[in-house]
Amino acid sequence: MKAAFVVDTNKVEIQDIDVPVIGNDEVLIKVKNVGVCGSDLHLFKGTHAFRKPPVILGHEIAGEIVEIGKDVTKFKIGDRVTVEPHIGCGECEFCQKDLVNLCLNKKAPGTPGWIGTFAEYFNAPEKTVYKIADGISYEMGTLVEPLAVAIHAIDRITVPEKDTIAILGSGTIGLLTLVAAREAGYKNIICTDTQQFNLDMAMEQGATLALNPLEEDVVAKVLEFTEGRGVDVALVCAGSKVIVDQASSMTRRRGEVGIVAMITEQIPVNTYNFVFNEISLFGAMTYETKDFAKASKMINNGLDLNAFVTQRMDLDESQQALDVLDQKTENVVKVLIEVNK
Ligand SMILES: NC(=O)c1ccc[n+]([C@@H]2O[C@H](COP(=O)([O-])OP(=O)(O)OC[C@H]3O[C@@H](n4cnc5c(N)ncnc54)[C@H](O)[C@@H]3O)[C@@H](O)[C@H]2O)c1
Ligand SMILES: [Zn+2]
Ligand SMILES: [Zn+2]
Repeated sequence: MKAAFVVDTNKVEIQDIDVPVIGNDEVLIKVKNVGVCGSDLHLFKGTHAFRKPPVILGHEIAGEIVEIGKDVTKFKIGDRVTVEPHIGCGECEFCQKDLVNLCLNKKAPGTPGWIGTFAEYFNAPEKTVYKIADGISYEMGTLVEPLAVAIHAIDRITVPEKDTIAILGSGTIGLLTLVAAREAGYKNIICTDTQQFNLDMAMEQGATLALNPLEEDVVAKVLEFTEGRGVDVALVCAGSKVIVDQASSMTRRRGEVGIVAMITEQIPVNTYNFVFNEISLFGAMTYETKDFAKASKMINNGLDLNAFVTQRMDLDESQQALDVLDQKTENVVKVLIEVNK
């Protein structure tokens, strides 16, 4: 079968590999759609924290079950499904607390022992598999994973007030975080991005204000909007040298700054903001199973995210898919790859 590998920085190659052999507790999925994620882009650019080429791209997937292991009880051939793409060891301190995302021996697609999703077939243990409801497209099924990231980021907030939240960076993750913040009841949602298209999309998805840091002083604008108080929470969903300082400078006293973006280079951070205003800093790493289940339910209930899909390409065009997201030569939010059309 065909699979798309990152073979070197900025270079994707289609290679022929064996169809995975499934274990007794696994299903084999004929892949229909996979999503290109910001973290695939890090792998492609050589800035991923631990993944280094050659490796198969992808962890976002929707497809149809074509084979089941003998111990599988919840699924049958023909089921339309998506996958929560991580497997905990089940034994470590964090697995014991249902924090698979923090497992000390976590398996994820594209790490040894599990292929990536940019392939014609993908294997997954049944406990990681979720049905896509009838009438819900494979495309929406593919968006369950990034929506779970957003739901987890919102769930990590401990500030009880939901007056104003800032989301810095409005790519797929930032925009889905906006959707999750909207559903969680935030009154005012302020988004930033350097691309006009993404700012327009943020407004369409319910942002109160959308600001471009290349054109305006976003901290001053946010402080003006909040009458000098600052936002309850600022979530960092893009990387730039100044973005954590921006976040802390627009956050109110005893507010929170959350980092969702994978910023793997060192950036300068003004720690004094955190001290002087008693701001707490947290990270948000993928999702817990409960977040994925919630995202799956929201999508199965018909949450309309069709506007997020801006490009559809073939597996053979994986290189172009990464290039578009990287170079923003087109208006882009989520690039989906169509496999086994
Ligand atoms: N924590 C997690 O579990 C997790 C999961 C998925 C992705 N991520 C990370 O989240 C980040 C965003 O992912 P994505 O898929 O949305 O990526 P993306 O590339 O689609 O989006 C990034 C957005 O940030 C914008 N941007 C660039 N510079 C900016 C700036 N200075 N200020 C404001 N916006 C700016 C870009 O125009 C783009 O729209 C990536 O770093 C990705 O690796 C984290
Ligand atoms: Zn993803
Ligand atoms: Zn574990």
